[in-house]
Amino acid sequence: MAKEPVRVLVTGAAGQIGYALVPLIARGAMLGPDQPVILHMLDIVPAAESLNGVKMELVDAAFPLLKGVLATTDVVEACTGVNIAVMVGGFPRKEGMERKDVMSKNVSIYKSQASALEKHAATNCKVLVVANPANTNALILKEFAPSIPEKNITCLTRLDHNRALGQISERLNIQVSDVRNAIIWGNHSSTQYPDVSHATVTTQDGEKPVHELVADEGWLRGDFITTVQQRGAAIIKARKFSSALSAASSACDHIRDWVLGTPQGTWVSMGVYSDGSYDVPAGLIYSFPVTCVDGEWSIVQGSLLKPETGLCGVRPLGKGWSRTYFAPARETMRGRRTK
Ligand code: NAD
Ligand code: LMR
Repeated sequence: MAKEPVRVLVTGAAGQIGYALVPLIARGAMLGPDQPVILHMLDIVPAAESLNGVKMELVDAAFPLLKGVLATTDVVEACTGVNIAVMVGGFPRKEGMERKDVMSKNVSIYKSQASALEKHAATNCKVLVVANPANTNALILKEFAPSIPEKNITCLTRLDHNRALGQISERLNIQVSDVRNAIIWGNHSSTQYPDVSHATVTTQDGEKPVHELVADEGWLRGDFITTVQQRGAAIIKARKFSSALSAASSACDHIRDWVLGTPQGTWVSMGVYSDGSYDVPAGLIYSFPVTCVDGEWSIVQGSLLKPETGLCGVRPLGKGWSRTYFAPARETMRGRRTK
């Protein structure tokens, strides 16, 4: 029997990420090849004509899974009945800016859209915040939509996670699909901590730790980390626009794994509210390693994963680690205080 369509909201749908994301959703990359979808696309009035053009293209592409398209500038209409909300609407940073520099513009958007989602989305709507600063926007959304369960509000750090896998695959000249279990700790910002101390590679001789295969530990502790932390800025420098196809693809990965489950033995990184795990202050939106089953994420626990014990835990138990580890939390808290 055919499945009921799932309603997916994409805010900022006339923008770069939106344009890359909606065809992926309509093709089944987000919810699976047998899941019909109805797209709700929201943008602001100056972008209405362009948004309508995106709708025309979706119709022209004749996606079999796409059962309806709503293109609107009315936030209430956009949020009504949605099961999944991908919050991309906002302003991207430009070359030379940090993501927190767009905070004042974007945070106010998330305050107002939070109440529309809270009042009009379907029960148990799952929310993914993509717009920057992503952790802070998600925290604002959580604060201003108190009746949405905190477990349902997440932000995108899967792009950073995928970037980490991509760097390892390039370094070892192997397929990216053979690399797994990287971890992004913290914020989607340059203070994040990409950690491959527990990542592994599938080889003909079984699963091998990344740190055994990458002979140059200095690279793992140095350039690998800064490359992932600075990748967004490198893309802006090269393209003059921020990442879009990789962001859209990673947003699909995030929702797909959340809804359909992570593969056996694999974790992924998601920005989720902290329950105090790993001594991250409870209530912050922070990127952790998670596994997902039956539409619920859980933070991967276990002493083995504690950053202090890992190869890339940097300066075990020392000052350097705690600075790296808590900087993202402080940044999020500052964002919260100023608004
Ligand atoms: P863009 O400027 O191309 O598109 C943004 C769209 O949002 C525009 O169409 C704009 O009109 C719309 N918009 C603005 N205010 C809105 C509102 N109140 N309601 C609905 N729509 C609104 O930008 P982009 O490249 O698509 O990036 C979007 C956001 O995603 C930026 O904040 C960017 O920094 C962020 N981003 C995050 C990640 C991540 O990994 N978390 C990755 C890439 C980009
Ligand atoms: C990214 O990581 O590519 C996005 O957050 C865009 C940016 O501003 O870097």
